[in-house]
Amino acid sequence: MLRSLLKQQNPVLKRIEGDEGTKLRLRYDIWYRTPERQQGARVWVDGREMLMLSSNDYLGLSGHPRVLEAAHTAAAEWGSSTTGARLANGSRAYHTRLEEKLAAFLGKEACHITSAGYLSCMSAPATFATKGDLILVDRNVHSSLWSGIILSGASYERFGHNDAGDLGEVLRNESADMAKLLVIEGVYSMEGHIAPLHELLPVAREHKLFTIMDDAHGLGVLGEGGRGTANHHQVAEELDVICGSLSKALSSTGGYVAGSREVVEYLRTHSKQTIFSAAISPAQAACAETALDILLSEPEHRERLWDNTRYYKQILSDLGLNYWNSETPAVPIVIGDKERVYRLWKKLWEDGIFTVLAISPAVPPGKDLIRTAISARHTREDLDKVGEALRRATKRL
Ligand SMILES: Cc1ncc(COP(=O)(O)O)c(C=O)c1O
Repeated sequence: MLRSLLKQQNPVLKRIEGDEGTKLRLRYDIWYRTPERQQGARVWVDGREMLMLSSNDYLGLSGHPRVLEAAHTAAAEWGSSTTGARLANGSRAYHTRLEEKLAAFLGKEACHITSAGYLSCMSAPATFATKGDLILVDRNVHSSLWSGIILSGASYERFGHNDAGDLGEVLRNESADMAKLLVIEGVYSMEGHIAPLHELLPVAREHKLFTIMDDAHGLGVLGEGGRGTANHHQVAEELDVICGSLSKALSSTGGYVAGSREVVEYLRTHSKQTIFSAAISPAQAACAETALDILLSEPEHRERLWDNTRYYKQILSDLGLNYWNSETPAVPIVIGDKERVYRLWKKLWEDGIFTVLAISPAVPPGKDLIRTAISARHTREDLDKVGEALRRATKRL
């Protein structure tokens, strides 16, 4: 009674109660599903075994015995958390060790890690751009980068996805005096496209842009030994900042910003996402550090990932499905409208395939899709099973 009276008087509670988006989400019950058990690339939902096809466990290291042991050892040695920000409570040896390893791996002088990829990627534009600057941003970048762009107070202009010509066009009309930044991804998370750095960076150089690249989906996947998109194009030195996530190929949670020592120290002085946020936990840092060691010493995981990716894309091609020319293990199946993509998702679900659907505005209009991700843990039988399920599901969509 009191609660409903309060609701009527409180505009925020009324907005929450009437929210159509939440009602729709709850009615269709697609997202936030809760498996009760997990083993490798399998999860169990309501007692039913399902094949996981949406997780970004690219190298399949989230169950690697060395990773699990590292988490146990780190928790035993350091406890569960630093329970505060590094600025106040101090860094720990496991933070600086991971930072040094990651920086060297990425071909950068220094690196700073935080407790989430979202925080790290948000902090890059939020920290390095400021009011009066202009940010040039690929129109398809991840939400974390957009949050940082908005927070920076800088103005921004979008350019066409992966379109260096358009970037040059947009810049032609801009004042030469403004400080300018370029914000892109190395591998686009929904599309699986690789940024054409050999086309974008000459434009960036010509216009003296400070360059920020989010490589959440490139690390561990592209480049020599998995060193990422910059290494893939042999341009690591040219990028001012490479940021990303520890939650994909490195099978942990957390994020990083890498650059010159000067750039990283500036971030540590100014980034609110670092200064006012608790450090990454000992266990999560240990998982990422061990995954990085495994990446260097056990190339077979990457080899299997790429074998699987080629095999899976052949299946999609044979079925005539549109995977948006994905060049990586992040593989969308573009269907184009909400109703049909929902029907496909549901049929796959009923067939024991766990996927996630993404609809506009999360993807461009007309690109509603099922987002799938290939892992080194998938077997050929798993991928054949997905192919069979897709064949049945797409017969009459
Ligand atoms: C491109 C990109 N950047 C940043 C993030 C955020 O990383 P995390 O999930 O580790 O917070 C993601 C995760 O979805 C991503 O895809």
